[in-house]
Amino acid sequence: MSARRPALGLLLLLLCPAQVFSQSCIWYGECGIAFGDKRYNCKYSGPPKPLPKDGNDLLQELCPGLFFGNVSLCCDVQQLQTLKSNLQLPMQFLSRCPSCFYNLMTLFCELTCSAHQSQFLNVTVTEDYFDPETHENKTNVKELEYYIGQSFANGK
Ligand SMILES: *[C@@H]1O[C@H](CO)[C@@H](O)[C@H](O)[C@H]1NC(C)=O
Ligand SMILES: *[C@@H]1O[C@H](CO)[C@@H](O)[C@H](O)[C@H]1NC(C)=O
Ligand SMILES: *[C@@H]1O[C@H](CO)[C@@H](O)[C@H](O)[C@H]1NC(C)=O
Repeated sequence: MSARRPALGLLLLLLCPAQVFSQSCIWYGECGIAFGDKRYNCKYSGPPKPLPKDGNDLLQELCPGLFFGNVSLCCDVQQLQTLKSNLQLPMQFLSRCPSCFYNLMTLFCELTCSAHQSQFLNVTVTEDYFDPETHENKTNVKELEYYIGQSFANGK
């Protein structure tokens, strides 16, 4: 991932009325293996999808800011599970600073799941992927670009 033009972004997104921004995703679900048991997310540029009920507990635990009943997101339950396991390491490092961990978790939640994802993320490198389970052609997201608001990045 490369950070370009840190302007606009998440903070603005959080402050502005949701209707101002169109809702659309850059990814949904997991695709081909990147390394080990890590997988790329699948490219998807449609509207956010309703989170299945069995994802509610995870969402409430990881992304309380996104949790409000019947929510539509750009991540599925598997991505939330991956997010949780990816947060185990930073959680150890940041165990003495719960608010730092909370900020990091919120940031990763927004990046992974926000219904307005396409406003601050651009897919730059992809790869074809054939899903052996569904027999569908899909696309791995290998690299992306993002904007993060300066104030959000500073944790203010
Ligand atoms: C929740 O979403 C489902 C599927 O989109 C819909 O059928 C249901 O009516 C919604 N429930 C509420 C309370 O909005
Ligand atoms: C995404 O790409 C478009 C077109 O190349 C560009 O105008 C836009 O600023 C980019 N957005 C991000 C978040 O990098
Ligand atoms: C998937 O892509 C391959 C190669 O491009 C093509 O031959 C095949 O028909 C596609 N399968 C489906 C289900 O679209």
